[in-house]
Amino acid sequence: MMLDLFADAEPWQEPLASGAVILRRFAFREAPSLIEAIAAVAAQSPFRQMVTPGGYTMSVAMTNCGQLGWTTDQHGYLYSPVDPLTGRRWPPLPEVFTSLCHRAAIAAGYADFQPDACLINRYAPGSKLSLHQDKDEPDLRAPIVSVSLGLPAIFQFGGLRRNDPLKRLLLEHGDVVVWGGESRLFYHGIQPLKAGFHPLTADCRYNLTFRQAGKKE
Ligand code: SIN
Ligand code: FE2
Repeated sequence: MMLDLFADAEPWQEPLASGAVILRRFAFREAPSLIEAIAAVAAQSPFRQMVTPGGYTMSVAMTNCGQLGWTTDQHGYLYSPVDPLTGRRWPPLPEVFTSLCHRAAIAAGYADFQPDACLINRYAPGSKLSLHQDKDEPDLRAPIVSVSLGLPAIFQFGGLRRNDPLKRLLLEHGDVVVWGGESRLFYHGIQPLKAGFHPLTADCRYNLTFRQAGKKE
């Protein structure tokens, strides 16, 4: 474990699709601060398992930070400035989130990305995210920046149609996936998390998903 913590992890890039790239270990150095900041956000707006409009309780626990947060109600999915659980605004984006996301967006070729929303997903063993498109955002020119922390997970990345062939990629601690442009609406998901232990997150995986969910000023 110690070896893993102090491993010299120079980031490298793997092209994924047109407009999409995996920045391997890009968030490795910031990871401890990112994980601390997740705890601070969750102290204000706790993790909760949301219920889909169809009445299904999601296996992934979620919270948000930023001006807007992704949530569900009985009518559908929406971005809201207010956390429906607390009745207050979502906590602001921590500085360490904004700076990491900014650098990742530049590295992936999306220099003018200005996220106003960050969804924080927490996966326990067995949690999964079925194949879906991120399409609740009004401005699809902005990419998605997705940061993996803690236990590894298998990410599925397909195409514009649900039944397009899927790539299956192991996302590990510190990996950042950025997709936009031609792949902005590509189907993706997370296979059920395998049980394990990570020195920084114990028995879970976190994912930060940065988005521009409002209109750009
Ligand atoms: C998502 O699609 O919202 C999350 C993907 C992930 O957990 O890596
Ligand atoms: Fe997604």
